[in-house]
Amino acid sequence: MKAPKKDVRDYIRTIPDFPHEGIMFRDVTTLFSHPRGFRMAIDQLLHPYAGEDIDVVVGLEARGFILGGAIAHQLGKGFVPIRKEGKLPGKTIKQPYTLEYGEAVMEIHDDAIEAGSKVLVVDDLLATGGTAEAGIKLLEQLGGEVVGCAFVIDLPELGGRAKLEALGMDVHILCEFEGE
Ligand code: PRP
Ligand code: MG
Repeated sequence: MKAPKKDVRDYIRTIPDFPHEGIMFRDVTTLFSHPRGFRMAIDQLLHPYAGEDIDVVVGLEARGFILGGAIAHQLGKGFVPIRKEGKLPGKTIKQPYTLEYGEAVMEIHDDAIEAGSKVLVVDDLLATGGTAEAGIKLLEQLGGEVVGCAFVIDLPELGGRAKLEALGMDVHILCEFEGE
């Protein structure tokens, strides 16, 4: 009998106690480095949006850049980064968000999205949803319409999906990890 086909989840490595004791870190570098795993992740992330009217793909720094760039290329669209504060050279708008410890700020160039653009937001992982929510607020401030938010991993215990769905977002996620 043939061995069962691997899915995206099988390519993700878990590193216990990183960055702090008690945290199970879901490491997507092992997914990204595997040719079959990476292609599978990109294909599955863009699948629901392939026939949709999308103008631009937005990636959230940093791991969202790796996925978002490949998805934009595959869809034949442009890519726009939302970055952590202080990295973008042009005029930006900013959005603070809450981290496990303290606050951070996300930024986008104020001319990166044309008003009325249909946007697909991409990141590797959805935890509390704070990062994605900040990105969505920035895009909406520029008049963008977020048609979907795509992630490889959901950590359901942290409530990110519920937070984004409460904002009316279409959320597409490839796999979940509970606290194992
Ligand atoms: C991680 C992950 C998501 C975010 C999810 O990024 O890549 O972007 O956290 O958390 P949230 O849903 O609770 O906001 P991180 O800020 O650690 O940095 P990186 O992607 O730049 O490595
Ligand atoms: Mg990130």
